[in-house]
Parts: sequence; C-alpha cells; structure tokens
Amino acid sequence: MTITQDESEPSIEPAAPSRPKYEVLEDLPGVGPATSKKLQEMGFHTIESLATATARELEPAGISEKKALDVIRLARGSLDLAFVRADELLKQRETINRLSTGSQVLNDLLGGGLETQTITEFYGEYGSGKSQICHQLCINVQLPTERGGLGAAALYVDTENTFRTERLVQMAQHQQLDPREAARNVIVADAYTSDHQIFLLENADKVIKENNIRLIIIDSLTSHFRSEYVGRETLALRQQKLNKHMHKLIRLARAFNATAVVTNQVMAKPDVFFGDSVHPIGGHVVAHTSHTRIYLRKASRGPIRIARLVSSPYLPDGEGIFKITTNGIEEAEEGDSKRRG
Ligand code: GTP
Ligand code: MG
Repeated sequence: MTITQDESEPSIEPAAPSRPKYEVLEDLPGVGPATSKKLQEMGFHTIESLATATARELEPAGISEKKALDVIRLARGSLDLAFVRADELLKQRETINRLSTGSQVLNDLLGGGLETQTITEFYGEYGSGKSQICHQLCINVQLPTERGGLGAAALYVDTENTFRTERLVQMAQHQQLDPREAARNVIVADAYTSDHQIFLLENADKVIKENNIRLIIIDSLTSHFRSEYVGRETLALRQQKLNKHMHKLIRLARAFNATAVVTNQVMAKPDVFFGDSVHPIGGHVVAHTSHTRIYLRKASRGPIRIARLVSSPYLPDGEGIFKITTNGIEEAEEGDSKRRG
C-alpha cells in the first residue's frame, strides 16, 4: 500500500488554541462533586493525573467506561497531551530539561545531566553514594537553569530513614543557597511498607503540583519489596506491584516534566565467574522501566566513586569517577584518581 498525501485525508490537527483549560476536577464537564470526591479518594487530585490515567483505573469511581474515556480525553485536551505526529514528538522532546548531578564527568556520562520525563536508576552496594547523590539532586534542582538546576522543588520518598536535613544544609551552603529555604523546598515522605510507598506515590500529584516539584526521588525503590516478598511464590505479585509503581512514577514525571530518580541495591550472583558478580534487584520490571541505569562502585578506599552507565536509550555505555566530600558530589581531581582502586 502506498500512502499519498491526500487533501481529503483527515489530519491530526494540533488542538485548537481556544480549547478550554481545566484547573480542578470539577471543572471537567460530567464530573460533579460526588465523582470528584471519589476520584480524589482514589488518588486523582489533578487534571494532570487524570490525563495520564487509564479508563480501567477510573472504574472504581463508579463511572462508565465511556464517561471515563471522555474525562481522560478532556483532561488530555486541556494539557496538550494527545495523539501527536512524530514532529510534535520531537517538540515534546525539546521540552525535556536536564538536571546537573554536581559532577561534570557524571553529567557527561548522562549526556548532559539527568533528563526530565524519564526514570534514572542508581544502583550499587551500601555506601556507594546512592543516597548522597539523591541529597545533592535535591539541592541542584533548586538552582536556576544556568547553574544546572530546574528552579524547582523536590519530593523525597524515604524508605530506609536515610534522609538527613543536616546533610542537605551542608550542600545548600556550598551552593550559596539559604539553608532554611533550601530545606523548605524538599518535601520528605517516609514510607513504612511497600504498600505505604505505593500509596504515597499514588497520592503525590497534588503535592507535586502545589509545590512546583520537578524532582521525584524514591530511595530506595526496592528495599521494602525485597524484605516483604520472600520466597518464590510471592515473586509474581511483587513484580506486578513494582511494575505498577514504576508506571505511576513515569506518568508523574511526564505529567509534571519532572526528573524521576530511584535507587536500588545489588545482590550477589553466586553463579557468575567472569564479569560482574552483582546485579540490581527487581529483575526485568525495574530494568525495563528505568530508562537510564547507573551502576555505582566504591574505589578501594576514600571518597572516590566509580559510575558506569549501564543502560540508556541512546547513549553509549561508559565510565567515570566523582567524589563525595563535605560539600557534596564533586569532581574527582588528578591526585584523587590515582587513589582509585
Ligand atoms: P545504602 O543506602 O546503604 O545502600 O548506601 P548508599 O549507596 O545510599 O550510600 P550513601 O549515599 O549513604 O553513601 C554513604 C557514604 O557517603 C559514606 O560512606 C561516606 O563515604 C559518604 N558521606 C556521607 N556523608 C558524608 C559527609 O557528610 N561528608 C563526607 N565527606 N562524606 C560523606
Ligand atoms: Mg542509601
């Protein structure tokens, strides 16, 4: 079949600029106070979250599939999220911003920093610097774009009680940010179980919108899942829950043009004799839903860390070093690299 450009062919017009903009759920035609209340109880507080929902997810609100589709379509229309031509997709990619890690080497490895609208995963053994990078990103996201930031706030979902305001303050001072203000711009949510972690993210849209959050961190993604789901028979359920959780994260990142970061521990692979003897937790689900994966290792001793880009949609694999100091994540210097083990 040949495709010809026919005048009569229905075209996918970019939506008319006069389309209504809806601010809150009840602005949507067909969503009354009762439906709005139910949707909010289910975690849909914003037009953004409805725009990225599926009809089936809205079913428990007691609305028909047709009405659910209408609501989603109206929400999408209000946000310029719709079927798009490839050239529009290109434009959408142009709205992607990058967030600096604090190390030029690490930024270069990532093609210029962490991308918005995608998930970046840092995995590695204890003390490899995953949480330190997360703290640093919470500071960097607040910087203006010319300094590698997004001029925005951060959400830190903490599953291991590792978040430290004192550490954030140290890093803020080094960046000449007002420490009190910097700490105010980081919203910390402690997750006590995997279900609680899921619940927090399901209900995060309102907090994200109201606080201009453009960095969403889950540190660590897998710790609760790993300790709660033990034994082969629980594996399928664990993977199913992780999958849904990661998809929620992607949708939030897209809806709010935010950077999503997850950390992950590693497990020893006893059957591997050559190459790497460790691998990240979470199997295929985490591997496929993390768009970019960075493997962190400690050098033999000292502040040096080795980062390896393991998977990226379009960047070559590579390796680089950085260091963790009182100031935060910094460039490793000449002398430092000699101490690399
Ligand atoms: P797990 O969560 O246990 O898997 O480890 P992680 O990868 O999150 O490690 P984390 O980011 O917590 O790194 C801890 C390491 O960072 C410590 O061993 C120190 O080497 C370094 N570090 C943490 N805080 C400071 C600090 O205030 N000053 C300096 N110089 N180094 C620090
Ligand atoms: Mg940690």
